[in-house]
Amino acid sequence: MKKLAAGNWKMNGTAASLAEVAALAQAHPAPACEVLLCPPATLIAQMAYHAKGTPVKVGAQDCHANASGAHTGDISAEQVKDAGAGHVILGHSERRTDHKETDAQVAAKTLAAWRAGLVAIVCVGETEAERDSGATLDVIGRQLAGSVPEGATSATLVIAYEPVWAIGTGRTPTLAEIAEVHHFLRERLTARLGADAAGVRLLYGGSVKPSNATEIFAVANVDGALVGGASLKAADFGAIVAALSAAA
Ligand code: 13P
Repeated sequence: MKKLAAGNWKMNGTAASLAEVAALAQAHPAPACEVLLCPPATLIAQMAYHAKGTPVKVGAQDCHANASGAHTGDISAEQVKDAGAGHVILGHSERRTDHKETDAQVAAKTLAAWRAGLVAIVCVGETEAERDSGATLDVIGRQLAGSVPEGATSATLVIAYEPVWAIGTGRTPTLAEIAEVHHFLRERLTARLGADAAGVRLLYGGSVKPSNATEIFAVANVDGALVGGASLKAADFGAIVAALSAAA
């Protein structure tokens, strides 16, 4: 399995930010892991152009479940693919919160991603209140069961565990807490997919930065990271790519 360093730019970046792609590729021309950047939709096509011939792959942050139609402001998986993306992040907690996305909607979008030939990066994660009440594994299990449709394979599915309270806060779970959730995810996926579950990349996300990447990548069943803030600058994201390459 090739590990995956994925950057989620969220609603950040303009054309000027595309210089980070060349800087990243120049500093890490042959990483031992996969490297993915998911810019806002406005930059997908341009980033795909800039990333051509480099190890940097390009993804989207969302897609609609339908292939086309009257859905003002939305973008289909087919359009994402056409713009040059190969991956799409689905069910990020910010979309679950801001747009009230449900597990069923995330599952429908995941099917759309597969229909278009995209790799789906499905996000799960508990809130702070859920962790404090001891409900973490229940929540993760429910999200995983509801958000990942039948037909997943290690080639088409990546799971990102992102505790909501760790996103953009500088706080992270203990390594033991990360290990517990990732072990649980692997078990649940094995029950559904059998031996192929061993090849599904399980990413940790939430305040990953150069200073904590190495210790997080040493945790069992952590196969990479989904990085927000620290993916915006090539220097920071490059350091995380280097840490994952060293762990690969
Ligand atoms: P931060 O790395 O900024 O905490 O964001 C994590 C995230 O939400 C990535 O999808």
